[in-house]
Amino acid sequence: MLTHLKHPIFETVKKAAKQLDQDVYVVGGFVRDALLQRPCKDIDFVTVGSGIELAKAVAQQLKGKPEVNYFKNFGTAHIHQDTWDFEFVGARKESYQRNSRKPIVEEGTLQDDQNRRDFTINALAISLNYDTYGELVDPFGGVEDLHNGILRTPLDPEVTFSDDPLRMMRAVRFASQLGFHIEDKTYEGIKRTSKRLSIISQERIIDEVNKIVLSEKPSIGFKLLFNTRLLHQFFPEMVALQGVEERNGQRHKDNFYHTLQVLDNVAEYSNDLWLRWSAIMHDIAKPNTKDFNDKEGWTFHGHEFVGSKMTKRIFRRLKLPLNDRMKYVAKMVLLHLRPIALTKEIVTDSAVRRLIFDAGEDIDDLMLLSKCDITSKNERKVERFLKNLQLVEQKIKDVEERDRIRNFQPPVSGDEIMKLFGLKPSREVGMIKSALKDAVLDGVIKNNRDEAINFVLNKGKELGLTLPHSDN
Ligand code: CTP
Repeated sequence: MLTHLKHPIFETVKKAAKQLDQDVYVVGGFVRDALLQRPCKDIDFVTVGSGIELAKAVAQQLKGKPEVNYFKNFGTAHIHQDTWDFEFVGARKESYQRNSRKPIVEEGTLQDDQNRRDFTINALAISLNYDTYGELVDPFGGVEDLHNGILRTPLDPEVTFSDDPLRMMRAVRFASQLGFHIEDKTYEGIKRTSKRLSIISQERIIDEVNKIVLSEKPSIGFKLLFNTRLLHQFFPEMVALQGVEERNGQRHKDNFYHTLQVLDNVAEYSNDLWLRWSAIMHDIAKPNTKDFNDKEGWTFHGHEFVGSKMTKRIFRRLKLPLNDRMKYVAKMVLLHLRPIALTKEIVTDSAVRRLIFDAGEDIDDLMLLSKCDITSKNERKVERFLKNLQLVEQKIKDVEERDRIRNFQPPVSGDEIMKLFGLKPSREVGMIKSALKDAVLDGVIKNNRDEAINFVLNKGKELGLTLPHSDN
């Protein structure tokens, strides 16, 4: 165990606690991650006595005497040094919650404190006291659970989850992040208590969701969220994707499991949170647009448009950012069918140029999403689609090399058009601009200035405009 206590902070804390005559332990995530050999930059210390006094004494001994930020009501203190965060807390009988608004009620022993933590693997403590330095205190078999990959609450799950319902989300998050199994009683406890998630702020919930989205195989977390009905509490649109309907012997696919497959596929290639969110959102409007007719069978016409519109509303409610990231996801949802649709026709340069123009810088992400969207079980179909997408990809490369559409800037600007014809901002200027864009994208003219000026002059003539100081 001593090998985990390499950082000089441990010796400092040991001495400071001795001077104050307080017992002190390393506890929580740092111990868990050290045993799992995962990197961790936060170290939590629990002391039997005042966490704030201990933190102040420790800071005095550290290089540069860093500032101690503390919250008297909660008995917690925080020191940031270099890239490390040290958190000090007095042992308590009350539940341990970061972000809790409830002040501490009663001081307690180490055992009291461990009782009130979320999972056995997070309730491990290592002594920093002189006589027992480096010894592990593991009253609930946390090490064994770590070894077996089990998530289990130290107390009756309903007590632990009622103390802080966010812990249900944490259980799923750890299961997804670490590939751990939620032990049966704990799992049943989540199912019974899931509705209590409603008292938790959406900001805390989405932090956990994003950690699930960023885990190696996010479908693990989302299946658990669905099966425990936690997902139903905050993301009903995703729940609605689940289910298969049959009519006249025709079934459509289950869009929930399809979405998870696409998400896992994307996760294999990219750690980008927003590309992963694009996977989650790409078919979100399928339930709203679902229809059946004898000729086509099941259809989801326009789900890309409706889904793109839904993105903003859902992001706002989930407390996801409403900035460029949201716009990126909305764009991905809107365009997600385009690359595959292209393969169903003869791929003209002009169609490829339009796709590059609409996707802009995000064309590569869009192609990846499109590839990951192919989840058919029919291998021959998958092979055909992938081959077609490869052709589109090649064509994108060729066209881009030639025409540089990705960062398309019109070769003649609106201002220049106004100057040329002595116009004020008007409908004509807009018409010329858009005709110029179409001409470049359709390959009528090359993406260069000479051809563009010529085109603009001709277009102006067509519209009956004359050049200032010109005789014709
Ligand atoms: N904890 C808890 N209940 C919570 C949050 C935290 O019991 N709702 C306890 C756990 O013992 C946890 C410790 O506080 O290990 C530190 O919490 P935190 O830093 O939020 O999480 P970590 O477990 O360190 O994990 P991560 O850094 O991945 O969030």
